[in-house]
Amino acid sequence: MALRQVRTMGDPILEKRSKEVTQITDRTRELIDDMFETLYDQNGVGLSAVQVGVLKRIVVVDVSEDEDDPIVMINPVIRESDGEQEGYEGCLSVPGKTGKVKRPNHVIVDFLDEDLNPQSMEGEEVFARCICHECDHLEGKLYVERVDGPLQDMDDVQEEQQNRRKKKKKIKK
Ligand code: NI
Repeated sequence: MALRQVRTMGDPILEKRSKEVTQITDRTRELIDDMFETLYDQNGVGLSAVQVGVLKRIVVVDVSEDEDDPIVMINPVIRESDGEQEGYEGCLSVPGKTGKVKRPNHVIVDFLDEDLNPQSMEGEEVFARCICHECDHLEGKLYVERVDGPLQDMDDVQEEQQNRRKKKKKIKK
């Protein structure tokens, strides 16, 4: 396993469409292992192969708090989506930035697992957001195109949220 370099906004590869995966080779498995290692190293919740410079439709996701729910999605397709959520989104390819994005609150996604067996998953909230975000990457799209309002510094938003929490505590007293 090895860490891979994450491509950042401005790198033209991030605007390209990734290609369908038709076979799993040793190199594909190594890529997937490296993607997880890179995801966890950077405290992310999702990473697509294009972000490490490989134009294949492979996504790794782990939205659990303890990094104990790794999911690999090959050739993912969102079959159904409904509802709406708005929240801050970030991306390892856009370091230090965040912005508010509207996404469906519920999705059903079809994909292939590491043995190319068809699977489906259903999810809400953070999971739904993450799947939509990663599927966008496979089409060469970054979340910054979908942001409502300005792109903000992650530090400013975190500070704002902490201040808001402090205010809430004060009111409780
Ligand atoms: Ni991203």
